[in-house]
This record gives sequence, C-alpha cells and structure tokens, in this order.
Amino acid sequence: MYDYWNQRFAQEGMIWGSDPSPTALLAMDLFRQHQSKSVLVPGAGYGRNTKVFSKEFETYGIEVTPVAIEIAAEWDPLSSFTLGSALDHRLEIQVDAIYCYDLLHLFLQEERRRLVVNCLKQLRLGGVVYFTSFSDEDPNNGCGRLMEPGTYEYKEGKFAHFFNDRELREHFAGTEILDTGSYPETLKSPEGKSHSYILRYIVARKMS
Ligand SMILES: C[S@@+](CC[C@H](N)C(=O)[O-])C[C@H]1O[C@@H](n2cnc3c(N)ncnc32)[C@H](O)[C@@H]1O
Repeated sequence: MYDYWNQRFAQEGMIWGSDPSPTALLAMDLFRQHQSKSVLVPGAGYGRNTKVFSKEFETYGIEVTPVAIEIAAEWDPLSSFTLGSALDHRLEIQVDAIYCYDLLHLFLQEERRRLVVNCLKQLRLGGVVYFTSFSDEDPNNGCGRLMEPGTYEYKEGKFAHFFNDRELREHFAGTEILDTGSYPETLKSPEGKSHSYILRYIVARKMS
C-alpha cells in the first residue's frame, strides 16, 4: 500500500485537486458544535482536508508517505504533519476530534479494527469522530477478486472494503453513534477530470 500511494503522489501530486471533500465542511460544523479545539486527521494525504480545519483548530495530520507530507507541509503550513502509520502512531496529546477520510476501507478486517482502536485512544472522553469509507452501494462493490467478506481487489493491485451500515457501526461499538449515512462523492483531478463514487460516513462520540 505504501508503494502504491507514494508512487501516485510522486507522479500525480495533488491527485484530487486542492478542494476539500464536502464531508470536511460537515465535520467542521460538527467539531464547532462540540467546542473542539484540536483535530487529528489520520491518512492526511497532501493536506487538502487538513487545511479546512487548521484555520480554526490545532490540527495534526498523520500520513505514511513522505511525498504527500512534503506537499502537505507547503499547502497547509498551519497543520502539524507526522510521517508514520495511523495504525500505531500516537500523538503526545489527546485530541477533541478526529476526521478520517477514506482510510478505513484500505485495510483488511484486523487492521481496520486496529486503526479505529488506535484513533479512539488518541481522542479525549466526549470527543467526536467523523469517518468516511467506500459504501457497499458503490458499483465497484463485488468487482474483482474477493479477499475477505465485503473486501475486493476491484482494480489490479488495489483492494478496498465496501462497508454496509451495520459493519461501520460495529467498528465503533462502545461509542455513542450520533449519525450514519451515505451519498455520492465526486473527486476532481487538477486537470478537471472527475470520478464519482458512493461514500458512507459515521459520526460518533467517545463515551468510555
Ligand atoms: C484515499 S487517500 C485519502 C487522502 C486524504 N484523506 C484526502 O482525501 O486527500 C488515503 C491516504 O491514506 C494514506 N495511508 C495509507 N495507509 C496509511 C497508514 N497506515 N497510515 C497513515 N496514512 C496512510 C495514503 O498514503 C493516502 O494519503
């Protein structure tokens, strides 16, 4: 996975352009409502979403590819980026909120659970999370080699898990789930090409 992303960022730079996902703006409202002051963004990429938060919150990004971190540091100098894996990296502080865009579906089941556990450890009690992933309603669900239930190698060398609502809720068992849902998301490249898919999201609060 590391090689795949590092190579893509090296070849394509800001792969999805500089605009944030609309979900980052929704998360921003949520974090404001909960009086958050600090936000962690695991799998921050080149910072297109951290830039939304860093204007207002103390923002921390964790990203595994050095190429993306280099772009991020220039694009969003107000955030603090750390090179490392969101599966095991720990900040020295606990944050008030976590926004995690399209990282969770990139792992097999055991690592998905590890990612959520590690993220929740870095969240203060009462803190809120906004996670997104591919949805089982996406047309790519069921395409290619089956790797685990709901996980497909839908492109050569690239797999993803396609979440249904129940599974996404199960990953956050023990938290108070505030909202879930799905909708179409469109990604635009800097050259103006666009790609749409169905995204699923979950909003939850840490209770223990
Ligand atoms: C689908 S991209 C989303 C990037 C970013 N959230 C955005 O929307 O611009 C997934 C990102 O997660 C990063 N990533 C993959 N595995 C990771 C890991 N174990 N820890 C931290 N980041 C990881 C990839 O390098 C890539 O930047």
